[in-house]
Amino acid sequence: MREHEKVIASALLLLLLVAWFVFLVHEDPRFAGSPLGGLFGVLGLLVMLVAYLYPAVKRVAGLRRAVSKTMSLGTFLELHVFAGILGPLLGLVHSGHKFESPTGIALTAVMLGVVFSGFAGRYLFGVVSADVREKKAMLAALEQEYHHLSLEVAGSAGRGGLLARVSGVSEAIADVEYALATDERARRLFARWLAVHIALSLALLALLGLHVFSSFYYGVRWLGG
Ligand code: HEM
Repeated sequence: MREHEKVIASALLLLLLVAWFVFLVHEDPRFAGSPLGGLFGVLGLLVMLVAYLYPAVKRVAGLRRAVSKTMSLGTFLELHVFAGILGPLLGLVHSGHKFESPTGIALTAVMLGVVFSGFAGRYLFGVVSADVREKKAMLAALEQEYHHLSLEVAGSAGRGGLLARVSGVSEAIADVEYALATDERARRLFARWLAVHIALSLALLALLGLHVFSSFYYGVRWLGG
């Protein structure tokens, strides 16, 4: 995660947490159904749908090819992160902190779960991938040095100092390889995390669909008297 992205995303996340905790002292049961509350709801839904663009572009090869000239996958991921926090923030304002129906409670819980799992994974993955890149570069340099030293040793038939350097370099290689194996375990953990984040985001999509459907269905029935 780039530094400026981390700062803005963390600030938005904090705002989301505060907006959520406000429910302890505030509840406006009529806000969600008011014109302004409805506007927040529609905007929140649209912004959340923007967050789903990233998985679509990542997984659908045709779509990826079509947009690759205008926007990289990395930029889509940045958009994903911001839309993924901003949408739920708008959704939370829309709720007016009325957490009463099972769908409303589940929707809010799953929505927050998606955001927090996303943030944790983004942060973790950023750290691990930068670390792996650094260690791989270190390993390549050490292997090159090992190769040069081995050639020197072969040419000068066992000078003590040179042999000590070779064994030092080979120990360093073993250390970096061990650290890389640890990172590999972290990468596997990341894959498991991604599965959780995806499952939550699918549940969110289903609950959003249910929520929008029931709002229209009951809304229209009420209008019809
Ligand atoms: C409405 C909110 C969100 C939804 C619906 C959502 C959904 C998804 C989905 C479906 C994927 C899977 C992509 C794939 O592999 O196909 C994904 C990946 C990911 N999401 Fe989210 N997400 C949301 C919010 C966030 C937030 C707030 C963050 C970070 C702050 C985040 C960070 C990530 C990261 C790091 C990945 C993995 C990137 C990769 O390696 O491909 N997400 N998200």
